[in-house]
Amino acid sequence: MSETAIAAPKGLYLETFGCQMNVSDSEKIVSLLSDLGYRPVTDPALADLILLNTCSVRAKAESKVYDYLGRHRLRKLKNSRLIIGVGGCVAQQEGERLLKRVPYLDLVFGTHSLHLLPELVRGAERGERRSATEFIDTETRLNLFPQAADTGGITRFVTIMQGCDNFCSYCVVPYVRGREISRRSAEILGEIREMAGRGAREITLLGQNVNSYGLKSPDELHFADLLREIAAMDDIQRLRFTTSHPRDISPELIACFAELPKLCGHIHLPAQSGSDAILERMNRGYGREEYLATVTSLRKARPGLAVTGDIIIGFPGESEADFEATLSLLEEVRYADLFSFVYSERPETAAAGYSGQLSRGVKQQRLERLQRRQHEITGEICEALVGTVQRVLIEGVSRRGDQLTGRSDANRIVNVPGDASLIGQLVDVTICQSHPNSLLGELSREG
Ligand code: 5AD
Ligand code: SF4
Repeated sequence: MSETAIAAPKGLYLETFGCQMNVSDSEKIVSLLSDLGYRPVTDPALADLILLNTCSVRAKAESKVYDYLGRHRLRKLKNSRLIIGVGGCVAQQEGERLLKRVPYLDLVFGTHSLHLLPELVRGAERGERRSATEFIDTETRLNLFPQAADTGGITRFVTIMQGCDNFCSYCVVPYVRGREISRRSAEILGEIREMAGRGAREITLLGQNVNSYGLKSPDELHFADLLREIAAMDDIQRLRFTTSHPRDISPELIACFAELPKLCGHIHLPAQSGSDAILERMNRGYGREEYLATVTSLRKARPGLAVTGDIIIGFPGESEADFEATLSLLEEVRYADLFSFVYSERPETAAAGYSGQLSRGVKQQRLERLQRRQHEITGEICEALVGTVQRVLIEGVSRRGDQLTGRSDANRIVNVPGDASLIGQLVDVTICQSHPNSLLGELSREG
């Protein structure tokens, strides 16, 4: 008789920070720990186990982890049986140091150690304190590749690769996620078929750099062929992917935007900067003109393609002229949305040693200027949608509960009055109003 079979369910309170990769790992964590009798709870007061799945891409994300741990400290003082653990990128970076720094922490598991989590939790139940942050070999990683949890749902995320080999000079990802590996194509297609069988209609393929999917694996499909195979599945109506590296956008991928109507008209294509000198120092492998030429080719293949991006402000040595080059990139690309960040020095990265670090004040001022301009551009793009008909995949009921909500092809949230029977369907919506974070429309006719 197994211990878990007779034990009452225990509460797992899991907080996830950072990118979709962590969200996807958290799904795996829930499923791994359910075998030990842990069930997710939404109130930490009901937890027997508190786990933080962390992000270290910027210093702010990292310090948040210590704030959250501080908050859970009192719970541990009241209940010594409570187990507290840290996983994800901060865990990978800090390892044993976290156990030393935070005396009430019970376990630390790195980005390659999800499979060891049940063992670490069992150990913690016996009073052990351990950290597991070894990187594992490619074959083992492929065999342990996290599968999405069996949750159903209309829009699903599927991780197709992990890690990154690009070593952009500011970025900690290659250090905390390890080398790039591409998941086996057959496994990806199998998982998507299963999801489609359970009602999935939209699939987003995930990875740090999805465009280089399969390049190191001669036996696997290339990215464009993977997209074609998924688009050929009858039940799948929409396909998206993120994140793309501008250098790896191949002619075959561009052709997919012309060929595959199911591939949505949106690409997230982080430029990081509009200045050639800064792009060079960032080790991005492309210049401003190449980036713009890629955007032009993509829009030729798919007229009206919405482009979103990431920008880092205040990279070491960024002059006023470099910053203005970035501002003018916004005018040329006309991003639908832009995520902009102040440069944050990260351990181990090349740029941490660069001269010309900027003051906080300059960085903040430039960030505000950039965000103000982008806010206007986003507003103009949304205003121009008023009166147009957009195809929307209805995902559920809006947060306020009185409308249906979904996303347009270009990935904008659209709310629309209508009957819940439309959930899971593609419908045509005439846009009536544009709000800062969503559009409001009326059903034109059922798709
Ligand atoms: N500082 C600021 N922003 C960063 N990003 C990655 N590393 C850093 C850093 N050290 C941003 C990039 C990336 C996004 C996920 O986070 O813009 O595309
Ligand atoms: Fe970081 Fe560059 Fe890799 Fe993106 S491509 S994860 S920014 S190293």
